[in-house]
Amino acid sequence: MSDLKDRHFLSILDFTAEEIRTVLKTAANVKTDPKKYRDTLEGKTLAMIFQKPSLRTRVSFETGMTQLGGHAIYLAPTDISLGKRETTEDISMVLSRYVDVVMARVFGHDIVVDLAKHAGVPVINGLSDYEHPCQILADFQTIVERKEKLEGLTLCYIGDGNNVANSLMFGAARVGMNAVILTPNGYEPDEKVLAESSRIAAANGATITVTNDIEGSSGADVLYTDVWASMGQESEAAARKAIFEKYRIDGDTMKRAKPDAVILHCLPAHYDDEIDYETSRLPNSAIFDQAENRMHAQKALLISVAG
Ligand code: CP
Ligand code: NVA
Repeated sequence: MSDLKDRHFLSILDFTAEEIRTVLKTAANVKTDPKKYRDTLEGKTLAMIFQKPSLRTRVSFETGMTQLGGHAIYLAPTDISLGKRETTEDISMVLSRYVDVVMARVFGHDIVVDLAKHAGVPVINGLSDYEHPCQILADFQTIVERKEKLEGLTLCYIGDGNNVANSLMFGAARVGMNAVILTPNGYEPDEKVLAESSRIAAANGATITVTNDIEGSSGADVLYTDVWASMGQESEAAARKAIFEKYRIDGDTMKRAKPDAVILHCLPAHYDDEIDYETSRLPNSAIFDQAENRMHAQKALLISVAG
């Protein structure tokens, strides 16, 4: 039984740096030798609650469970109508009687917190409006594959101060990676996220910087972007295009970063907006390794909390 057994994973901050490194090590082993893990979750079931659409999260978790000898059940937004048909509390209490682990993709972060509060099994945040911790595990696995370390590197995130930016700030702070968050004025991450991540980063010899200056990507080891309008912000998408125009990864961004800077994007991508297609296909780009690693990293997570 690992120290992570039965633990919830709602935030990347739920795990210590050592625990993150342990999961990443398992993820690397799972990727190299998947057969070794094929019975690890035999007879176990994952319930996957979705309030929002998904390609990677759904398929990587479901395939991951199958590959570990377990089973996953997809619950679409209309299947259980979370909070409408019945309460989060009752859903959590009932699911805990059937399944061994729950993953939820939700709007309000309070929903995953509430699910976890009432669950008798581990709850994993598969993305909330506030955080996307599973994404960060895959991102870190990808960075380690390319750069052989995390600590001391500088990651520059360009775009909206959203859930992915929040989790990157927290995650970078935990593992001693510098993070520069480059957003248009008014789209910076929450001040509380900056304060908390800066405090943790300082203890680990790293810094977290938030700036509107696009020169902030100078010298970055990792360049990261995400959609300008997240799920739930569709009505703002058109207006944001003009505001975010300069905040993208393209040839100019590449000139400012280190020549071997790794390009990451959690996907889905909008190629006319936050990244151009040509840049996304450069040898520097690891975006499809990153997508693949969602599965390996989450298999490691599932083994750790439900194995
Ligand atoms: N990156 C990510 O979470 O992708 P999906 O929205 O397709 O799951
Ligand atoms: N910030 C994006 C991430 C998608 C994986 C969103 O929440 O829609």
